[in-house]
Amino acid sequence: MCGIVGYIGDEQAAPILLNGLTKLEYRGYDSAGIAVFDGSEIRMEKVSGRLQRLKEATDNGKALPGMVGIGHTRWATHGCPSDTNAHPHFNKEHSIIVVHNGIIENFTKLKLHLENRGYQFVSETDTEVLAHLLDYYYKRTRNPLAALTKVMQKVEGSYALGILFRDHPDSIYSARKDSPLIVGQSERGNFIASDVPAILQYTREVFYMENEEIAVLTRDDIKFYNVDEEPVEKTATHIEWDVNAAEKGGYEHFLLKEIYEQPRAIRDTVNPRIKDGQIEIEELQMTDEEIKGIDKIMIVACGSAYHTGVMAKYVFEGMARVPVEVDLASEYRYRDPIFGRNTLVIVVSQSGETADSLAALRESQAHGQKVLGIVNVVGSSIAREADSVMYTWAGPEISVATTKAYSAQLAAFYLLALKFGRVRKTISDSDYEAYISDLQKLPEQMEEILKDRQPIQRFANRYLAAEHIFFIGRGIDYAISLEGSLKLKEISYIHSEAYAAGELKHGTISLIEDGTLVVAVATQEKLYPKTVSNIVEVKTRGAFVMALTNEDNKDIEKVSDFTFYIPKTNRYFAGSLAVLPLQLFAYYVSLGRGLDVDKPRNLAKSVTVE
Ligand code: F6R
Repeated sequence: MCGIVGYIGDEQAAPILLNGLTKLEYRGYDSAGIAVFDGSEIRMEKVSGRLQRLKEATDNGKALPGMVGIGHTRWATHGCPSDTNAHPHFNKEHSIIVVHNGIIENFTKLKLHLENRGYQFVSETDTEVLAHLLDYYYKRTRNPLAALTKVMQKVEGSYALGILFRDHPDSIYSARKDSPLIVGQSERGNFIASDVPAILQYTREVFYMENEEIAVLTRDDIKFYNVDEEPVEKTATHIEWDVNAAEKGGYEHFLLKEIYEQPRAIRDTVNPRIKDGQIEIEELQMTDEEIKGIDKIMIVACGSAYHTGVMAKYVFEGMARVPVEVDLASEYRYRDPIFGRNTLVIVVSQSGETADSLAALRESQAHGQKVLGIVNVVGSSIAREADSVMYTWAGPEISVATTKAYSAQLAAFYLLALKFGRVRKTISDSDYEAYISDLQKLPEQMEEILKDRQPIQRFANRYLAAEHIFFIGRGIDYAISLEGSLKLKEISYIHSEAYAAGELKHGTISLIEDGTLVVAVATQEKLYPKTVSNIVEVKTRGAFVMALTNEDNKDIEKVSDFTFYIPKTNRYFAGSLAVLPLQLFAYYVSLGRGLDVDKPRNLAKSVTVE
């Protein structure tokens, strides 16, 4: 959601900005722009649509010479996607230029205040208010830092900012609050960016900006300040992961590459946390006594991360006998939740920047609750603000639709539930051993499924024109159905719903007609006969059924039209295997419909607004 890149150094800025913005495309955007200081003037180009248009408009950056610049990809919130609403935004004299990620919540009030003082607005955006407000204070102080801190005190909402002042051609000013921003340092110059992949090609030394911090970058130096203009000392983090991790590596799409990286993601998340046959999660920072004392777990997240929570409820309650509540972060933050005497709140997030999840974390802490973050992006806001953080080692996930981070989140939950079950003595020693062995086998079993993706591709090609697809299952199979349905709708744009199989007959079954595709997930032995009955119910109404089960249940072929078998594991982990064919199905439907698999319309990878 909105991407920012800035560069000041020895090289031409525009190609670096365009390259960095390309690396941030995964975040989702609908317009783009760059501004470069050419020595005397700040020149700018901005267009609606894809970055390719900006590259053409600037002759791949050559048309905007200069070694200082800022760039932006915009995901529209205030005002439609258009050339005018694209960033950068500027004051009347084009002497202060701003790119912004976030939302200025009190922009209407500020705009009125500025209009009353003669300022004229050209765009519909909330960001433009920042350019004029900076102008207002700069004209009074003649000091960019003072002007910026004044603006930070006046605005409400979230922001990551990159700013050029024409009077200070040797500096980039930046600041952040509740929207991600990093600062990169290299021999050949310094950078700002929304995320590491944008600058990884140039540097691995990165500073994570904290809320209400300011960075002033020159060619050779980076200075940090707080909102009182006091200097702040920061240490750089060395980024370990490889640049190839953020490239397609021979796959046609990031999504396919990331689906295939899932076995590795599980190994990296699980194996370091199993020592001598015992699960050790040092990051948890909880004694056995504290684990025994937990009377309730609350899992809070959005989208697919929320679906891992729905699954974790079955796993935790089954293995560790702790009651679990699962909430959508956007609901939780306003529902005034009731905490137990010893509640553990778990916030799950790939990006670690999702605004609703971050707000839920803060809401929990404000009520005195300890929060455990399950997070993929190292150094992200949720990782830093949680009381303890358990990283999922999925590596950078670029495709907007999550796959490997989702699977790694499930694996993290399995580890936690097993650890809790062991400590609370709700699973026997032999079961504990068997579960650990199953967990370590999962990557291999995933590889087996991924070996041959053709049957799923062929099946998907038959459903490219479908208008509605239903996913059904019970228990953990319902949790997987939720994820299968979301994957499909977000990248194929086909309407789809996931239903607890037993619930269909309470209304939704009226939508089933001749040829409607129903994907039935039936991995849970105890529930298998029940799900088969539900399959028969939809078949009777003309549905075409794709079933997902394991080899023991060959009789399912009698009631389904296409069956995909997954290897056998225990009931809790079956979802991790069943999700793979569903991800591949969504991928091939999207591909067959000629859609942008990695960057589906209207979506952003990191949802940093409410
Ligand atoms: C779906 C998807 C989203 C995210 C959701 C939460 O494929 O990617 O539903 O799961 O936006 O994002 P994070 O995990 O970054 O908090």
